[in-house]
Amino acid sequence: MPKFIIKGGQKLSGEITVNGAKNAALKIIPAAILSTDTIIINNLPDIEDISKSFDLLTDLGAEIKKTGSSAEISTKNLNKIELASKLADKFRTSVMFVGPLLARFGEAKFPHPGGCVIGAGSRPIDLFLEGFKAFGATVEETDGKYYHVKAKKLQATNYFFSTVSVTVTESLMMTATLVPGRSVLQNCAMEPEITALAEYLNTQGAKITGAGTPTIIIEGVETLRAGVFNIMPDRIETGSFAIMAAATNSEIKITNCNPDHILSLLTIFNKIGVIYEKGKDWLLIKSAKNLKSYDIKTHEYPGFPTDLQSPYTVLMTQTNGVSLIQDTIYDRRLIWTDILSQMGANIVMCDPHRVVVSGPTKLYGKKIISPDIRAGIALVIAALLALGTTEIDNIYQIDRGYAKLDERLRKLGADITRAD
Ligand code: EPU
Repeated sequence: MPKFIIKGGQKLSGEITVNGAKNAALKIIPAAILSTDTIIINNLPDIEDISKSFDLLTDLGAEIKKTGSSAEISTKNLNKIELASKLADKFRTSVMFVGPLLARFGEAKFPHPGGCVIGAGSRPIDLFLEGFKAFGATVEETDGKYYHVKAKKLQATNYFFSTVSVTVTESLMMTATLVPGRSVLQNCAMEPEITALAEYLNTQGAKITGAGTPTIIIEGVETLRAGVFNIMPDRIETGSFAIMAAATNSEIKITNCNPDHILSLLTIFNKIGVIYEKGKDWLLIKSAKNLKSYDIKTHEYPGFPTDLQSPYTVLMTQTNGVSLIQDTIYDRRLIWTDILSQMGANIVMCDPHRVVVSGPTKLYGKKIISPDIRAGIALVIAALLALGTTEIDNIYQIDRGYAKLDERLRKLGADITRAD
């Protein structure tokens, strides 16, 4: 399995460009099913989950032409409503194909999706199923492993989310675009990727209002036209690189980003002493000396993102004082901090949702394994800070979120190599 070998202690400097947002791209690809016209997607990140989404769409009968970071998709000849297990059970967002298939064909068959083990059990899909039922669909389930969702005729619905969920909000919004009548979704997630998806569907003829607020109203239409979608910059990459610069006290300019999407982090930077400048599409981290510790509690957007909790925890190992890190979204997203403790961090786990970090502490190079994407980038940041050499195994998990990370970090002066 490929590994990263990182020699810590190098000062980083220069510019790093942010890629298109993984969590926007992974929804736009299945959204192509909603229209029989040609869809063009630009600024796709070069990561494996995107290739897997294309494989799944191709298997359903779509035609896809890829050129660089763009793709032209036609789902006119789609001839299947069943997601192939060997493809779909490898990644969580395979479940994003179900809402569009149900809207277009009234039916979808699919296995329980795979993905990072960060939530309860094998990451539930109960809210998706509950949402599809609210549109009048029935769900046949085989041992919680395989599902058949079906409706003779979907009906518009009023649905209140008992738990705020990004992907379920997006799924039900996509389904509702083709359901006759007015659907109202309440207590929706408000992430920028949801707003971008709604704006894009509207350019294709959908009638969606309120995306980016807790209430989304969708007037169903019969068909959607062709569309062009330019994927927004990845806000989690932006935040990860900003934290990397702060943790290593390096001057780094982050380009092709939207700093307004990470205001929750920048507000904390103001409090703890990170000096930065920002423009419309760039962020320059200038210096980060004698930083203070500061507590965080993850929250749905626009609060502090759970996806930045792990890099932020590494930053807190370098700050003066004690900080409480609370991850409210997932049950298993703090387990990785045990690896950070093995590298020398002073971390006490209170319960699965809370750890206390005392800093500053020196970190030491180790042989470690990356458990998931975001813990993976956090461990890369820890390795860049550490005394000695760190070997990170299972970097497949890091590659899933950060394309060609080693090449991009070498340009900043990092001593990082990829080895088999
Ligand atoms: N949940 C359920 N049942 C469901 C769906 C979700 O209980 O049917 C729970 C989850 O286990 C979690 C909570 O609801 O405890 C909220 O999770 P949410 O559904 O919002 O997460 P998601 O939509 O599966 C997206 C991102 C995640 C990001 C979260 C929170 C995508 C593809 N994924 O996941 O990104 O952490 O929102 O912001 O958009 C990542 O990129 O590393 C990543 C995990």
